[in-house]
Amino acid sequence: MKNIVNLDDLSLDEINDLIDEALAFKNGKVVDYQQKKVVANLFFEPSTRTHYSFDMAAGNLGCRTQNFEASNSSLKKGETLYDTCKLFESIGCDALVIRHSDDDYYKQLAALNVPILNAGDGKGNHPSQSLLDLMTIKEEFGHFEGLKVVIVGDILHSRVAHSNYNVMQRLGMSVYTSGPLEYKQEGYNYVDFDEVIEDMDIVMLLRVQHERHQGDENFSKEKYHQIYGLSLERYNRMKDTAIIMHPAPINRDVEIKDELVESEKSRIFTQMRNGVFVRMAMIHKVLEDE
Ligand code: CP
Repeated sequence: MKNIVNLDDLSLDEINDLIDEALAFKNGKVVDYQQKKVVANLFFEPSTRTHYSFDMAAGNLGCRTQNFEASNSSLKKGETLYDTCKLFESIGCDALVIRHSDDDYYKQLAALNVPILNAGDGKGNHPSQSLLDLMTIKEEFGHFEGLKVVIVGDILHSRVAHSNYNVMQRLGMSVYTSGPLEYKQEGYNYVDFDEVIEDMDIVMLLRVQHERHQGDENFSKEKYHQIYGLSLERYNRMKDTAIIMHPAPINRDVEIKDELVESEKSRIFTQMRNGVFVRMAMIHKVLEDE
């Protein structure tokens, strides 16, 4: 496996193997590259969770890391994405973790001779987020087949929704989407959140991505919460066994009521913890296949 840039490129066996490897790391499996491998974290777009959990994951595997600061780099002198990445290959990095605001940015990097781990491309894909979501679901339910998930929010601009919609269906889950009609994704199964909430195993909330809008929102934060947010009233209608997920960062009291963020059904911080183990599995996979 040279790159992990889009889960659509991976077979179900490869996806299940990555999840099982992540669970093994969580249960104490040790791999130690003894500081002989270097992972570069190249974030051309802001990140907290993905950046620092890839950094933690590489450290846990005994790799060294290089953390690129886009705002203080030769990007400011006009250096291209390709030339920046080629530099990190040239100085001896063994894997590149890349986040960029362009959909499919990695297609420009096909000539590189170093593995790429996609840490999020524009509105396209977020494979490490999907894998940590799937790991969290597998830990909770033990399987995927037959589970029902509703993904609620800004579907159109969400790389998390786009990654999860496909892979969850491939794994046998029933996937529904909901949220403001202006953020509906054509071709996706769209439902009224209030009509399905009682039947869902997983309620996955998405952040309203103000930075990807051009001031075109037709709602206040209060109105969004009232119509599409997880309120206490909606929480009380969820199945006893159902869980809440959110990729974060969270707009508290918008997508989810503040006091529900760490409620009994919430797996939001479990998702963040699992992100480290999933990213260990991803880094190990591309390094061992080199
Ligand atoms: N979930 C997620 O991708 O968070 P960051 O943008 O903080 O990495």
